[in-house]
Amino acid sequence: MSTVQQKLQELKEKNAHVNLGGGRDKIDAQHKAGKMTAHERLHLLYDQGFYDELFRFIQHGSTSFGMAGKDLPADGVVTGLGAIRGRLVYTSSQDFTVMGGSVGWMHARKICEIMDMALKAGAPYIAINDSGGARIQEGVDSLRGYGRIFYYNTLLSGVVPQISIVAGPCAGGAAYSPALMDFVIMVKGIGKMFIAGPEVIKEATGEVISAEELGGAVVQASHSGNVHFIARDDADAIEIAQTLLSYLPANNTEDPPSLSTGELLMIEDEELNRLVPDDPRDPYNMFEILQRIFDPGTIFEVQSHYAKNMIVCFARLNGRVVGVVANQPAEKFGAIDIDASDKASRFVRFCNAFNIPLISVVDVPGFLPGVEQEFGGIIRHGAKMLFSFSAATVPKISVVIRKAYGGAYLAMCAKSLGADRVAAWPTAEIAVMGAEGAVSVLFKTDIQNAPDPKLKRRELIEKYREEFSTPYMAAARGLVDAVIEPKNTRAYLSVALESLRSKRDLRPQKKHGLIPL
Ligand code: HXC
Repeated sequence: MSTVQQKLQELKEKNAHVNLGGGRDKIDAQHKAGKMTAHERLHLLYDQGFYDELFRFIQHGSTSFGMAGKDLPADGVVTGLGAIRGRLVYTSSQDFTVMGGSVGWMHARKICEIMDMALKAGAPYIAINDSGGARIQEGVDSLRGYGRIFYYNTLLSGVVPQISIVAGPCAGGAAYSPALMDFVIMVKGIGKMFIAGPEVIKEATGEVISAEELGGAVVQASHSGNVHFIARDDADAIEIAQTLLSYLPANNTEDPPSLSTGELLMIEDEELNRLVPDDPRDPYNMFEILQRIFDPGTIFEVQSHYAKNMIVCFARLNGRVVGVVANQPAEKFGAIDIDASDKASRFVRFCNAFNIPLISVVDVPGFLPGVEQEFGGIIRHGAKMLFSFSAATVPKISVVIRKAYGGAYLAMCAKSLGADRVAAWPTAEIAVMGAEGAVSVLFKTDIQNAPDPKLKRRELIEKYREEFSTPYMAAARGLVDAVIEPKNTRAYLSVALESLRSKRDLRPQKKHGLIPL
C-alpha cells in the first residue's frame, strides 16, 4: 500500500471510529432506551446530501480521575451545519453513548464554536440535548464550559432563532441552556429537565416525586411552561423543529419565508357571522374563528399545553407568516392571568425580534381577579404584555371579536399601544368593564332604593350594554378603524397586512428597555 493510500486508509478508520461514538453496546443501549443516536438524529433532521460535520477529531485534555488517555470520540457531541428543507442551519447533538454526553471543556467549546458560526452566518441554531450534565471528572472546567454556552445563547438571542430539542436527560444547570433559547421541544417519556432531581429534593425538603413527574415533558409543558412542544419520539421532535423553522426567518435582518403569490384572496366566510354566541356570557372555541381567518392548515400553535386561556400561534395569511395572539373564551372565559401574560409577552417579543407581523384576536373580560393572582404579581406580569406590544415595531393589527374590557383590552394591543389597524365586529363590547360590574359600582344606591332592586339592576345593565358595550363609542373616537362584518375579517386583515409591509417605526436609541421581569 502506498503512503498516500495508507493515510487514506487511516482517515477512513478514524472516521469509522468516531462514527461509532461510544461503541456498539452503547448504541444498542441507546436504541433500547427508545432513543436515536446523535448521528441518527442529525441524519433525519438534515436534507440528504448537504451536511458537514466539524471538529469530529477533537480530544479532551483532562487527566484527573482516570481521564488521562481516555478515548471519547468527538468528545461526546456532534457539531455541524447543513440544509433543512433547503435552508442553512447549524446544530450540536450530544452523544449519550460517549460518557453519557457529559459536558467537558472541549465538548462545550465545540458547541460554542458552532454557535459562533451560526451567529456570523446569520443562520438558526438547533441544540439536541441528551446529557448527564457537567462532566464530573472535569470539575470547574466543565462549569466554565457551561458558562460559555449560556453566554453564546445570550449573544445569539434575538439575532438568529435558537431551538432546543431535549431528547434525554438535561438536568441541573444544564437546563439553563434550553431555557435561554427561543423554543424547547421535549420528547415525552424520555426528555427530563430539572434543576435539582428527585433525590436532592427528597433530601432537601422530604418531598417524594419521580423524575418524570418532576421534569418530564407533560409537566414542563403544562405546569412550568418551560417546554413549548411535546414530541412523541425523536422523529416527531425533529419534524416539529422542521415545521417551526418553516415559519422563521434565518436571522433578525430577514423576513420570514413567504409563500405569497402576490394575490389577495378576499374570500367572504358567512360562517364567521354565526360563530359568536348570542349570550355574551357563553364561551366558544376561538380556534374555530382562527381556522377560518388564516390560510387553511397553517395554524401552528406554540405552548398549547400552557395557559390555555391565551392562544399564541404562527399562521399564514395569503402565504405571509404572522404571529397570532388570541384570547380563548373556552378557558377561564379568556381572562388574562399571570401565566397567560408571560406566554403572550414572550411570543410578542419573539415575533418582533424576527420581523413577524402581529395579529391580536380579542375577546377578553379582563385580568383574572383573585388573591393568588395579586400576590403572584399579576400587575408586574400583566405589565409585560403592555410593554411588549408597546415596544413592538412590526405591523400590529387587532380584531375585537367580543369583549375588550379595561386594562386587558389595552394589553391585547389597542390603538393607544400602537396598533396600526384595529377592526371590531358588531358584537364587540369595548368598555372599561362589563355591564354587571359597572352598574354595581355606578348605581349602588339607586338599585338599593328601588322598589324592585333586581328589576332595576337588570334595566340598568341593559341600558349600559346598549350605550357602552358596543364598538361604536370606540369607533367614534378613532380607536377602532372599522366595524366590519365578521365574514369580511380575512379580507380586512389581508389588506391591512399588505398595506403595512413597508412599515417604519423608529424609536429613540437606548441600550435596552426595562421590561418588568
Ligand atoms: C461523567 C457521566 C455523567 C457525568 C453520566 N455519565 N453522567 N460521566 N459525568 N455527569 C456516565 C456514566 O458514568 C456512564 O458511564 C455513562 O455516562 C452512562 O450513564 P448511566 O448512568 O449508565 O446512564 P443512565 O442509567 O441512563 O442514567 C443517566 C443519568 C445518570 C440519569 C444522566 O448517568 C446520572 O445521574 N448522571 C449524573 C448526573 C449529574 O449529577 N450530573 C451533574 C449535574 S450538575 P459508563 O462508563 O458506565 O458507561 C450539573 C451542573 C451544571 O450538570 C452546572 C451548569 C451551570
